[in-house]
Amino acid sequence: MRTLAIVGVLLAACTAQPEPLPAWPYPQVPAEAQRPGDPAKGYDYLINGGYISCGIPKTLYDSVFGSPGADRLPGRTGDNTDLPYYYSAATSAEGVKVVSANCLTCHASRINGKLVIGLGAASGDFTGDQAQYVDLAGRGITDPTEKAEWQRFDDRIHAIAPYTQTLTIGVNPADNLTAALMAHRDPATLAWSPTPMLALPPPGVVPVDVPPWWRMAKKTAMFYTSAGRGDHARTMMTASLLCTESIAEAQLIDAAFVDVRAWIETMMPPVWPFAINGDLAARGKTVFHANCASCHGTYGEGGVYPNEVVPVGDVMTDSTLALGASQFADAYVQWFKASFWGQMSRLEPQPGYIAPPLDGIWATAPYFHNGSVPTLAAVLDSTRRPTYWTRTFDSGDYDQAGVGWNITAVDHGQAQEPTHAAKIKIYDTTLYGYGNGGHLYGDGLTADERTAVLEYLKTL
Ligand code: HEC
Ligand code: HEC
Repeated sequence: MRTLAIVGVLLAACTAQPEPLPAWPYPQVPAEAQRPGDPAKGYDYLINGGYISCGIPKTLYDSVFGSPGADRLPGRTGDNTDLPYYYSAATSAEGVKVVSANCLTCHASRINGKLVIGLGAASGDFTGDQAQYVDLAGRGITDPTEKAEWQRFDDRIHAIAPYTQTLTIGVNPADNLTAALMAHRDPATLAWSPTPMLALPPPGVVPVDVPPWWRMAKKTAMFYTSAGRGDHARTMMTASLLCTESIAEAQLIDAAFVDVRAWIETMMPPVWPFAINGDLAARGKTVFHANCASCHGTYGEGGVYPNEVVPVGDVMTDSTLALGASQFADAYVQWFKASFWGQMSRLEPQPGYIAPPLDGIWATAPYFHNGSVPTLAAVLDSTRRPTYWTRTFDSGDYDQAGVGWNITAVDHGQAQEPTHAAKIKIYDTTLYGYGNGGHLYGDGLTADERTAVLEYLKTL
């Protein structure tokens, strides 16, 4: 009897399992071993390390800019203490103290007024000519060593500026920027060549929305097209390509980046700060499980994330990045392979997009790889996606009901605006790479089911 009772309890425990795991319809990107690191050291290096070793001389910076005010970040030390979170100080090879943009320029942002490290900078403005600003700054330098240091930085920025200008505020040119830098560096020595050694990418930047860092806790490859394979720490430090002139310097940065990667993988998403209707969210979970989990995985205790790349022909979101984007052209893939980076990591862009983990998804508007859809409500119902829209870029302008950014739909695209200043405020989904179609998986749901899924997504 006793044995039977135990069997009964076991059976009950088994049948009490919530739902069976969904079948994964697409091939999964396999996990690859990563070098271990120390997360605490990694965060310290991220905010205090001198991994971008060219920039504006610090003396000039100090004479022009004052206190960082609300952009000050606790935990910063030395010369970084009085810099805003998105700038770091470093000492160049010539011994000059310089200030330059760091990872957090693109990978930190405010939501509802609160700075969140790791949240993609969805208000970053890359529509201007970066070289103009650096040129202007150079006029104030008199010291010859500092002038030479500024000149080195100015040359780099001039080389990449034409390839990093986006058509709208909020989208990011990082992929094109990296390709332009590769074209100017010898893969074997990292020496800078003023004339490009590879064909440069076309100046038309394919727009990318910066993904949040906390996804790396689950993702087995980096980037929307799952291009970043092998050792992730090595790939992450590609951002230092702007300034790193020697393999020896790259090795030093790489040694610290194993810790940066380890820290990034401990990150947790921010929690939805408003009320949640628990019953509605519970119903939404069931709908999600039936319609979304086969690609996006399951959440909560025992959650599983499959790391599936969905071919563009199936997901049907803008295909430019996955198929047409020249920044992942074979010449750059080969450069990477032949370089310091290729010793440990690989670029293997896929003709599709990763179905991302949806943890903290409420905070990461706008949506899709190109940031073309401003709210989750519009992700779930393609008829609600505006063709042309604009927003205030104020981090408090949050749309609680739609879950995402408050926007104003406008009735015309950039072509009808007379000035550059007005054009760049419009997200125009008819532009090359900016399309907002596809991902129609919510369209077949009833309005009630969509409301329930929306509530559930707030809990992730
Ligand atoms: C100029 C802006 C910019 C800077 C600076 C930058 N990144 Fe990124 N980062 C991006 C963009 C854009 C992507 C997405 C590219 C893609 O998927 O095609 C990205 C992707 C990533 C990813 C992969 C995330 C994912 O979900 O696949 C990691 C990790 C990352 N960056 C780390 C870093 C680190 C560490 C630094 C500093 C050393 C850095 N980035 C500097 C813009 C930037
Ligand atoms: C067949 C696989 C698949 C199914 C089913 C699916 N998705 Fe997706 N989802 C994707 C892919 C792939 C992307 C990335 C598209 C892109 O970036 O262009 C995506 C993107 C998203 C995004 C935007 C993520 C971001 O940060 O930009 C959200 C939100 C989302 N899906 C929610 C859902 C919900 C909710 C459902 C169910 C109603 C669902 N998805 C069903 C594959 C799928």
